[in-house]
Amino acid sequence: MFHKEHDAFPKDFLWGSASAAYQVEGAMSEDGKGESVWDRFVKIPGKTFKGTTGEVAVDHYHRYKEDVRLMAEQGLKAYRFSIAWSRIIPDGDGEVNEKGLEFYDNLIDELLKYDIEPVVTLYHWDIPQALQDKYQGWESRQVIEDFTRYAEILFKRYNDKVNYWVSLNEQNIFIMLGYRMAAHPPNVTDEKRMYAANHIAHLANASVIKRFRELGMKGKIGPSFAYGPTYALDSHPLNQLAAENNEEFNAHLWMDIYVRGEYPSVVWKYLERHDLAPEIKPGDTELLKAGKPDFMGLNYYQTATVEANPLDGVGAGKINTTGKKGTSEASGLPGLYKSAKNPFIEKTDWDWDIDPTGLRVAMRRINSRYQLPILITENGLGAYDDLEEDGSIHDDYRIDFLRNHVKAIQEAITDGVEVLGYCTWSYTDLLSWMNGYQKRYGFVYVDREELDEKELKRYKKDSYFWYKKVIETNGQEL
Ligand code: BG6
Repeated sequence: MFHKEHDAFPKDFLWGSASAAYQVEGAMSEDGKGESVWDRFVKIPGKTFKGTTGEVAVDHYHRYKEDVRLMAEQGLKAYRFSIAWSRIIPDGDGEVNEKGLEFYDNLIDELLKYDIEPVVTLYHWDIPQALQDKYQGWESRQVIEDFTRYAEILFKRYNDKVNYWVSLNEQNIFIMLGYRMAAHPPNVTDEKRMYAANHIAHLANASVIKRFRELGMKGKIGPSFAYGPTYALDSHPLNQLAAENNEEFNAHLWMDIYVRGEYPSVVWKYLERHDLAPEIKPGDTELLKAGKPDFMGLNYYQTATVEANPLDGVGAGKINTTGKKGTSEASGLPGLYKSAKNPFIEKTDWDWDIDPTGLRVAMRRINSRYQLPILITENGLGAYDDLEEDGSIHDDYRIDFLRNHVKAIQEAITDGVEVLGYCTWSYTDLLSWMNGYQKRYGFVYVDREELDEKELKRYKKDSYFWYKKVIETNGQEL
């Protein structure tokens, strides 16, 4: 369906950008911060590109004023960032660390000074290590209470200042990479434990949303979900079925529970037959149903193209974390689906499919299955950038990527999808978890290398100026 003319972006559309605590802050043990699972995990040899860590990251903890000033100059309307649980409650369930709260008080006030809407993520993957040691983190139901207590501290402190809250960031990613691939903490490969931890994370997510309602908070809350809509490789019925399977196991398993409080029946039956089903206790379903979000946070990077996978077929394959194109392996779930190469789509140097239309498809599917407004909480291109001698960075490839995705959003709006805003990933360059610092996403270049922090100087990329114009014209000039 093509429109002759497009609807304009809504007047109060949130043109934003995003980051996460571990990826930008640094100051790993300053002002009373406790250790998080990521502080520990990155020390395991071979887990991250060249052994990079977020110990210093891009030093946002000390340079937040400079970073916010850059946002203000650009005209940014919203900034999504995460709060580190281990700064607020260093051991996860004990004393509150006032110094940790002060950092976020200051950051939020600085944003509000320039009329930048803070979008606060409660959890972006960095559970306190003490809780991992004490009861295995997301594998114990105790985490539901501890996470809710932590969230409540933030809700009460920032109710007057924050209008948009994100509960869990990409539960599907931290659970699958953490418990299936051992590529994230807690470094496990065990399907049964994965589904058990996932169920508990669902309960924790619902519990904070329920508490949000009980407290009569004035803002809106929702999870950020990493959704890559599935295409079948071709019209072969078995490949179409594989695409259905991929949607069930990689999307509905999370979004159905967020919105309806119920497991998709196809997934549930499979889990039972394979002895992988989590324990459902009395009251679980009621709690899940009480956690309905106000919006679906959408983190969109790419689509997934799949084909049929035999019962003795491909399992989890290697991820490209080096930026050498073509080094990722096919991966899948035997009997259900496996990844396939989409012949119509270009890839990034990290083998991620570049597909702006996929964003429109994602928005359309969420809209028609869940009838919720969408807040795009992440979208961006990880690429190599070159800093020129005069301090410029000509990232026209990033501008093309973002422009095409913004067009797709406008098309989805014209189709009838309600969208609250768009946060690009990311504001400044930052640590890309397993891929080091060379995989850059920002509007603002940060001069550091994997193992050389240099001076961490900030430079505006060409995309910075492009987005400034987009914001100024409310998306009319792309
Ligand atoms: C999302 C995360 O999965 O994608 C971000 O929420 C992350 O934290 C981003 O950085 C890009 O992924 P990567 O692996 O390229 O850093």
